[in-house]
Amino acid sequence: MAQQPPSTESPLSTKLEVRVDPVNGYRAAHSLVNVAIDDPMHPFRAAQTQTQPDRMSIQISATEHIQLEPEALSLINHSCQPNAFFDTTRQQLLCLRTILIGDEITIFYPATEWQMAVGFDCNCGTTDCCGYIGGAIDLSPSQRQQQRLAPHILQLAAKQNPTQFEARAYLEEYFLELNTEYQALYAFWVAAAQRIPPGAQALELGVGPTLYSSFPLATACATIDLADYVPHIFSETQKWLRREQGSFDWKQHVQLVLQTEGVAPSAANIAGREEQLRQRIRDLLPCNIRQANPLSPLQRQYDVVTMHYCSEAAAESRQEWSEVVRNGANLLKPGGLFLLSVCTGLQRFRQYADQQLSRAPDLQPEDIHHHLHTLDMDMETLERQTLPAPPSYPYTATVLVAVNKRRHNT
Ligand SMILES: C[S@@+](CC[C@H](N)C(=O)[O-])C[C@H]1O[C@@H](n2cnc3c(N)ncnc32)[C@H](O)[C@@H]1O
Repeated sequence: MAQQPPSTESPLSTKLEVRVDPVNGYRAAHSLVNVAIDDPMHPFRAAQTQTQPDRMSIQISATEHIQLEPEALSLINHSCQPNAFFDTTRQQLLCLRTILIGDEITIFYPATEWQMAVGFDCNCGTTDCCGYIGGAIDLSPSQRQQQRLAPHILQLAAKQNPTQFEARAYLEEYFLELNTEYQALYAFWVAAAQRIPPGAQALELGVGPTLYSSFPLATACATIDLADYVPHIFSETQKWLRREQGSFDWKQHVQLVLQTEGVAPSAANIAGREEQLRQRIRDLLPCNIRQANPLSPLQRQYDVVTMHYCSEAAAESRQEWSEVVRNGANLLKPGGLFLLSVCTGLQRFRQYADQQLSRAPDLQPEDIHHHLHTLDMDMETLERQTLPAPPSYPYTATVLVAVNKRRHNT
């Protein structure tokens, strides 16, 4: 019997159409165009918002589920190796891996759904198949790591296991939107980078999954080591280093860094700085800044050591905070540059991994200045800036410091 071609139920746009298999009635969305990774494929919006999921809804926040407009987008099938993703922040269907004309478009349902109204046994046949699909609530941490998940899912997962510090959730929470504080940070760090001698070796302590502070260092430093206490936190960094699809997009930060440096923020220059940083990053290391040698058993010293927003995350009291900063400064060579960023007056505390800390240190901007005097720093080289936080922020100010370690004991 000659096979009938699938019929087109509804051309969604010039880019997508829904086809119906004449034999089994199976409906699927297919691409009418070639699409490159990260390209938007179709916008969507809420035809209706509800508090509970149903078979057709898409979850867009911890408490909201929408009926999709256009409705045909809700006919996109699930795969455990999807080629598309509902970006609920930008309200766009995004391409996750290269799609060619005629390819079926698939999404990973738990990418947006925490607990689906109706689960099913997946038979997508991929090597990574998760089996039963009931929502992200059922996924193991390693299954979650392998997929691009919406920010609300990452946040719900982090709440489910509060000691789990999720790389992607952190990046989406703090680095997706460029607020005005970044302009001040980059202005400070770009100026500080001019103090770094060529060929310097840098270490970023407590860097988490971030790369933003490394972009201003990339031109001056020959190598940059990244270190953090939480072992799995470099999953996103590794994806970015491997140029993997769906890795976090730092381009808008690189653009701002280049603008701050007075370099034309062209696509070529942005890509060039990204490549440069990929070349410069040498090691991803475990560290504990609560130890006198945070890199123990490694014995290394650096020309540049940074501690951005990590010293206050690793201490409960002013005393402990002073020790933590001293431990970081221990890793500097004589004459080396110390870059420190600290939030003062922290009202919200976040537990990182298994350190059993229960509160943030009660720091004021003057504490930071006083403490620098007790370290082996050349105070004549000190640059310092205090950025008051807007009233709604859970801290009162950000203090930025750049200072060189003394060259000789005097
Ligand atoms: C608020 S995040 C800051 C991350 C990044 N530096 C930034 O600017 O966004 C605090 C970081 O400190 C790390 N951290 C907490 N305790 C630490 C410790 N004892 N040793 C090293 N890193 C630690 C956490 O894992 C986390 O990555």
